[in-house]
Amino acid sequence: MTPVKIGIIGGSGLNNPDLFEVTSESPQDTPYGPPSDILREGLIGGVPCVLLARHGRKHTIMPTKVNYRANLWALKERGCTHVLVSTACGSLQENIHPGDFVILDQFIDRTTKRSQTFYDGEEGHPPGILHLPMGTPFCSDTTTHLKECCEALGYTVHPTGTVVTIEGPRFSSKAESRMFRQWGADVINMTTVPEVVLARELGMCYAAIAMATDYDSWREGHEAVTVEAVMATFRSNAEKAINVLKMAVAKIAAEDWSQRISALKNSCHDVEPVPVS
Ligand code: ADE
Repeated sequence: MTPVKIGIIGGSGLNNPDLFEVTSESPQDTPYGPPSDILREGLIGGVPCVLLARHGRKHTIMPTKVNYRANLWALKERGCTHVLVSTACGSLQENIHPGDFVILDQFIDRTTKRSQTFYDGEEGHPPGILHLPMGTPFCSDTTTHLKECCEALGYTVHPTGTVVTIEGPRFSSKAESRMFRQWGADVINMTTVPEVVLARELGMCYAAIAMATDYDSWREGHEAVTVEAVMATFRSNAEKAINVLKMAVAKIAAEDWSQRISALKNSCHDVEPVPVS
């Protein structure tokens, strides 16, 4: 049985959670520069975990400036087999209410300024070009655990969801927000891409629990989203997200992931990159 180690990336409102007792804290350098913060290691129910604050512990790093490649590389370097993340999202659907959880299973990429691959041809980075299949971006088994934990805890959860990731840092106009609804998206945020893509390049099982914090800008008769509204909703529901993550870690660790991890490795990490001509 492959031992699991779980990286947890805490998003807005979950930067310094009461998730576990930290047993060690240390920086981790990477070929892509430093991650958003030091890595904090500890145990949840005996399972080794590594916690990383996506926007830095003081929430000083805006979504475009997050060093996603360094964050994921650092977690891989520490031996993480899984990455669980929380993300605050705007709701694009009437039936997804602020405070609800959505288990993400698809994305639409509207980012413009982010590097989405480790294979960029730079010196000291992995050689070649990687054309990574992305039909199923999230780890469906890990995702199922998150969904089941929400249900077991009695929280409202939408078992699937398409997220639109925008570049930010501004929120969307009404016209953009309505267009995303027409595209069939369920929620909107600023960080899932390229995080999910990079985790896949490194062969880690990645799953995201999104918390709806607002109705973005599309809803008639409602004030458009503000950062204060996002943070207030997330803060008042953060304990729920922590409970889900804690329970999910235990459920994940009780399973044998050997086959899934080697399938992920074969499907991407060890893909023979196309040589740069
Ligand atoms: N994060 C939380 N709410 C959001 C929204 N409406 N748009 C983009 N990112 C968000």
